[in-house]
Amino acid sequence: MQLGHALAVGVLAVALAAGAEAKSVKIGIVATFSGNGAEFGQQIERGYELYRKLHSNEIAPHTVEIIKRDSKRPDGAEAKNAVQELITRDKVDVLAGFVFSPDAMSSAPLVTQAKVPMIIMNAGTAWIPKLSPYIARVSFSMWQSGYVMGEYAAATMKHKTAIIGITDYPPGKDSAEAFKRGFEAKGGQVVDTIPMGGPAEVPDFTPFFQRVKDAKPNAFYVFVPAGNHAAAVAKTYANLGMRAAGIDLIGPGDITPDNNLQEMGEAAVGMTVVHHYSADYDTPENKAFVKAWKEAYGANSTPDFMGVQGYDGMAAIFSAIKKLDGNMDGDKVMEVLKSWKFASPRGPIAINPETRDIIQNEYVHKIVKDGARLKVSVVGKVDQVKDQCVELKVGRCGQ
Ligand code: PHB
Repeated sequence: MQLGHALAVGVLAVALAAGAEAKSVKIGIVATFSGNGAEFGQQIERGYELYRKLHSNEIAPHTVEIIKRDSKRPDGAEAKNAVQELITRDKVDVLAGFVFSPDAMSSAPLVTQAKVPMIIMNAGTAWIPKLSPYIARVSFSMWQSGYVMGEYAAATMKHKTAIIGITDYPPGKDSAEAFKRGFEAKGGQVVDTIPMGGPAEVPDFTPFFQRVKDAKPNAFYVFVPAGNHAAAVAKTYANLGMRAAGIDLIGPGDITPDNNLQEMGEAAVGMTVVHHYSADYDTPENKAFVKAWKEAYGANSTPDFMGVQGYDGMAAIFSAIKKLDGNMDGDKVMEVLKSWKFASPRGPIAINPETRDIIQNEYVHKIVKDGARLKVSVVGKVDQVKDQCVELKVGRCGQ
């Protein structure tokens, strides 16, 4: 009898260890799933769903439940409502997504109060991770691409003068400051900075670009929030004959996203940008990723930087589920994220434990023609870039 009892207890313990403790980890995703930013939400969703599909066996017996919320406009209001509800009503373990910077900014105080980790899968304003100890960013800081582009434009492309054109909201201001610092550190001079409308609607870029054409700088550095803004930039540049006028169009890779590159046509050929991802990277990790993406979403679908950020973000969440055996205490999740490293399709990435921001390679992309197709040719690389805004203690990054 004694032995029987001991056996029964033993069997129960094994059963608990083997599966009775299976957790369903709730992830609240806040991203633009409608309107002008719908393609961003789709890229991010395809990315995280692909990672989930390929790796769900690794978190067994645990599973994830995803609750999606549409942040709609890029003004932060809808995202904040969604975060509030996801925290209080749905009781999510983790929040992720956040396409537009204002959406991450408005939500930051809520995650601090609730101690719910927030994994930024896009929003690029440099100082966002400073807004809460519960934020970790797997995407980028605008300074990573902007500063490297500035240095490269002066030191390698030998440009002496540049004009900056930006979408007029926080990541645009960051990108402008980053480019200017990098460009002027290597002897270039920024002669004008032009705000070109807000992120919600694609403006008519013609009057802004005409002003640049008339001023004849060597280079025109442009930041707009990817998608159809980017397609309009390339078209306006072509329509005004600015390449023939000797003005080089450069920027962060947001202006040549893989997802929109083919529709840009001839206008994009010859552009030079700096970024952390292209679907054209010739590495085993990226080839496997693009192949799996096309198998899942069709030959005509191409991952771009937002797609890879969604994929990597889910990899980060999975690493926490594995390490913590599904017990997603907010402080413990943040500790795991701070030492997270990953062989991403974009190259090796890590979260900087001091800033909770990403460290990654930045690549110099030249847009070339490959038959009828446009393609990214990698002509330069800077390894393991940290955020220069924080390193140089600029503005809110220094506080
Ligand atoms: C942002 O709002 O932070 C943002 C949006 C789109 C981009 C880059 C940054 O392409």
